[in-house]
Amino acid sequence: MRVAAIDEDCRGVEEEAVRSLVLAMAREPHIQAFLIEGPGRAFARRFVAGETLEDGIAATDSLSRRSARVSLDYLGEAVHDLREAEAARSVYEETIDRLRLSDAQVTVSLKPSQFGVDVDRNAALTFLLDVVGRAAKADLGVRLDMEDSSHTDVTLWLWRKLRREFTNVGLVLQADLYRTPADLEEVLAEGSSVRLCKGAYLESSSVAYPHKANVDAAYGRLLERLLTHAAAQAPTGVLPTAAIATHDGRLINRAIELIHQLGLTGERYEFQMLYGVRRDLQDNLLGRGYPLRIYTPWGPAWYPYLTRRLAERPANLTFMAGSILSEILARRTSRSNARPVSAARR
Ligand code: FDA
Repeated sequence: MRVAAIDEDCRGVEEEAVRSLVLAMAREPHIQAFLIEGPGRAFARRFVAGETLEDGIAATDSLSRRSARVSLDYLGEAVHDLREAEAARSVYEETIDRLRLSDAQVTVSLKPSQFGVDVDRNAALTFLLDVVGRAAKADLGVRLDMEDSSHTDVTLWLWRKLRREFTNVGLVLQADLYRTPADLEEVLAEGSSVRLCKGAYLESSSVAYPHKANVDAAYGRLLERLLTHAAAQAPTGVLPTAAIATHDGRLINRAIELIHQLGLTGERYEFQMLYGVRRDLQDNLLGRGYPLRIYTPWGPAWYPYLTRRLAERPANLTFMAGSILSEILARRTSRSNARPVSAARR
């Protein structure tokens, strides 16, 4: 059975314009304050497990009961002070200590900019070595997320350094960047695990395909290369060689065809999806026995993550507008109910 027809968003030039607009508006301080303090918080719960580590662990346990694998992400990025990076290291160390006791098949995902790479790359490397080393002792996989293209080189640099010491570390590559076919060859030659995604950041057309159709086509080519490699070479660490990170039904169907043609087994590949996105597809894959990992973010710094999810799918703005409207109506109703009867009649 193929994955059911997906509500194909016809994302072309106009959709890219909406995406830029959403991201630009989300940076406006008054919009930020309104969403963070108000309706954004309730809406974020659709995409974010919660604000505390307990919330993250509870979500991990519940996904694990559905037979899903999990990657936990402590939200945070673009720190400007190494004390914040140090704090992120401590949170991840605590997370790993907690996960050590869990039966869930779980990894952690790390953002280099949360570890201070924009402040001091060597300090960031030291913090990351601590986290990856601790995870290695607990037999847990770690993956470096890939941020916007100004971070690609430094993320590859970090990955090379970490990989020299530990095999439990993998990387993310983005199909929208022109450079990715060459980066993929380097990462595969090293025997490391790759999460292939389309790319969530707004990039210049000098470095990335501006049109969605080209990104999708590039993803298809990279997917074929990645899965063919996964068939030829066993994983060298705890992470599967190929992580297929997409909710795109056409690409998932293509991946399934290749998985069967190549005879790939579950330790060589997995699908990956985002917490709260296309839960129907998640259930579909899990029900058919395909390995699926859910990227599960938690933490109080959810705003930049939420804006990327909104920009990816403008239809989310409609949900958001709906939740803002219901909140305004609920507030009005509770205000008028709270008014003394005589005042309410005036
Ligand atoms: P596409 O955008 O074509 O969406 C296909 C369908 O999925 C849509 O039609 C819609 O139904 C649904 N969908 C997609 N996004 C949705 C959303 N936000 N809300 C509701 N429905 C949605 N990016 C990056 O730059 N660096 C990274 O490290 C990562 N890491 C990462 C991990 C994992 C596990 C996933 C799944 C994705 C990432 N990404 C990422 C994000 C990725 O680059 C991309 O922006 C999103 O996955 C959306 O692209 P799709 O491949 O799903 O296709």
